[in-house]
Amino acid sequence: MNKNYINGTWRTSGLNESFKNINPADTRDVIGDYPVSSESDVNEAAVTALEAFRSWSRMPAPKRGDILRKAGDIFAREKKELAKIMTREMGKPTFETEGDVQEAIDTCYYAATETRRLFGHNAPSEMNEKMNLSFRMPIGVCGIITAWNFPVAVPSWKIIPALAAGNTVVWKPSEDAPASGVRFIELMEEAGLPAGVLNLVQGKGETGSYIVEHPDIKLIGFTGSTETGNQIAARCGALGKKVSLEMGGKNAQIVMGDANLEIAIDGALWGAYGTTGQRCTATSRLLLHDSVHDEVVSKLKERATKLRLGSGLESSTEMGPVINQKAVDKIMKYIEIGKQEGATLEFGGSRSTAPGTENGYFIEPTLFTDVTADMTIFKEEIFGPVLSVSRFSTYEEAVELANGTRYGLSSSIYTNNVRDTWRAVRDLEAGITYINAPTIGAEAHMPFGGIKGTGNGHREGGWTAFDIFTEWKTVYIDYSDSLQRAQIDNY
Ligand code: UN1
Repeated sequence: MNKNYINGTWRTSGLNESFKNINPADTRDVIGDYPVSSESDVNEAAVTALEAFRSWSRMPAPKRGDILRKAGDIFAREKKELAKIMTREMGKPTFETEGDVQEAIDTCYYAATETRRLFGHNAPSEMNEKMNLSFRMPIGVCGIITAWNFPVAVPSWKIIPALAAGNTVVWKPSEDAPASGVRFIELMEEAGLPAGVLNLVQGKGETGSYIVEHPDIKLIGFTGSTETGNQIAARCGALGKKVSLEMGGKNAQIVMGDANLEIAIDGALWGAYGTTGQRCTATSRLLLHDSVHDEVVSKLKERATKLRLGSGLESSTEMGPVINQKAVDKIMKYIEIGKQEGATLEFGGSRSTAPGTENGYFIEPTLFTDVTADMTIFKEEIFGPVLSVSRFSTYEEAVELANGTRYGLSSSIYTNNVRDTWRAVRDLEAGITYINAPTIGAEAHMPFGGIKGTGNGHREGGWTAFDIFTEWKTVYIDYSDSLQRAQIDNY
């Protein structure tokens, strides 16, 4: 059980507690036991990360970039093997886990380049013989807590820019993706990361709260549920820590009457049932113009009911299982609520009976129509293969429906009308808007994050990740050889 990584060595927890990592496509396949880390494990990791911060933060940023570029090369070399580890423990098909690794590769190369471009600003002083400038400083030890649905990409969005900027890290991967966490660390170690710079503590929620509480950890980066995120934010508020949250979504795809229906249907299928609907960016609501409603629903039914469910390790699989029994219970509960509240179940709605799915957590692709804005399945995040369809007759109605939830991560509109396109860019309340593309598909070099209940104002990805993982130092250099009092002597 040496699956914690602290100060450059693999070790187990001081506690003798462990949890099992199980293949969600076949629960007879137990991948391994992983330690539940204690407060003292987290303490060791934090102390070691603080110690490592002294030298890592002083290493020239481009040299840190060299290590991260090498990490990108190693992730590229290991892409297929790593993807299999990820699929076995969290279920999505290997073409998806390979894409997940690719996001980490892109993030490594992007961040490596940014280490030569961590631009500051300079500005004229209001006084003679004085110069003003500002630059980014690392923050210190960052506590990173991540979800299982993107077991490599999402950690990389946080860990890689944090390291590039000169921070050190204590990371807790999800208890549903601990093996990907181990492999991630091994590859980073091979790239030449010095001991103590990146530390891994396995565990569940309690281990996460030790990270949040630790006084040497100055920043928390979290991806997960809105409930947990808000609790973390409250603690970080009380403790005076910077916190970056990436939480739930209830993303809508709008299809206008003039849309290209073929691509709109392709988009809805991929957005709703890709990753078995378990993305914070998943399309969970489809808003259809009256004139195309019936045609889109019937074509979706034809295609979705033919999706091949099975182990993501089989190349023929199009949709994998959901992550665990708790997820099955939650999704089935929402399906029941949908029926009770009067939505029409068009297809799916049950555990899968397809051959090869009997030992896993499989749920059929599901679609409800007649979903109205007051229904629970319209408002709450389900995180499973359940798509809710509502109809509208005007652009204004569509936007009102799209914006009618507490979340604001991703959004999409299919239209060929220039005016509706640009109005949607302006009107959709979301951190991300796609035009003629599904609600999923963010690229690593662009800001990623949401408004309203999805986030707390930060953006991962791209250049904006450095706004999370740095603070500004402002410098005034006075070479006048005299005292010049700002606001006083020059006016
Ligand atoms: C997530 O669901 O947590 O845009 C991240 C996308 C992916 C990232 C999703 N590139 O769907």
